[in-house]
Amino acid sequence: MHHLFEANRRWAARMVAEEPDFFEKLVHVQSPKYLWIGCSDSRVPANEILGLRPGEVFVHRNVANLVNHTDFNCLSVLQFAVDVLKVEHVIVAGHYGCGGVRAALLNKELGLIDNWLRHVRSIYRRQPERFAGLEQGAKEDLLCDLNVLDQARHVEESSIVQNAWKRGQKLEIHGWVYRLSDGLLHDLNFKPHSQP
Ligand code: CO
Repeated sequence: MHHLFEANRRWAARMVAEEPDFFEKLVHVQSPKYLWIGCSDSRVPANEILGLRPGEVFVHRNVANLVNHTDFNCLSVLQFAVDVLKVEHVIVAGHYGCGGVRAALLNKELGLIDNWLRHVRSIYRRQPERFAGLEQGAKEDLLCDLNVLDQARHVEESSIVQNAWKRGQKLEIHGWVYRLSDGLLHDLNFKPHSQP
């Protein structure tokens, strides 16, 4: 693993060369405006895709970018981001070619993760008519989109976001999808029902 430490030292030196007090400033405060809830997929790194530096985006990632009301990990990140960091935007970001979404669609047995992906599969099962007649690739892309919108809805419906809006806090929720083949993000135009 030596090469990773070497790369790390080169990176830290480059950051300091660009901005001598860069790390010193970050020690004292982080004030990101964005929370990114994305997939664990190694090809979808939040900071790099957004062109943001350390300190600029708070990140939660899991397989297939899910937001479940029983997931204390994700909810704790959301609560800290909204209540303490006061982020102004929560971005749920999916990506085409997501292995989790594909597995949910194929209903392949992979082990423990099947239980996690059950949430994605249920989106497909709730509205099979939307998938009828589509080719496999188009089905996967559609499920990626619908999954993002579903998870964004879960963010909206969380007590954390509802309470923030009741307090008059400025907070927007976005549903985006990333295309691996061209590196571009697309806005799925998520519309909250309950935003004041
Ligand atoms: Co994925």
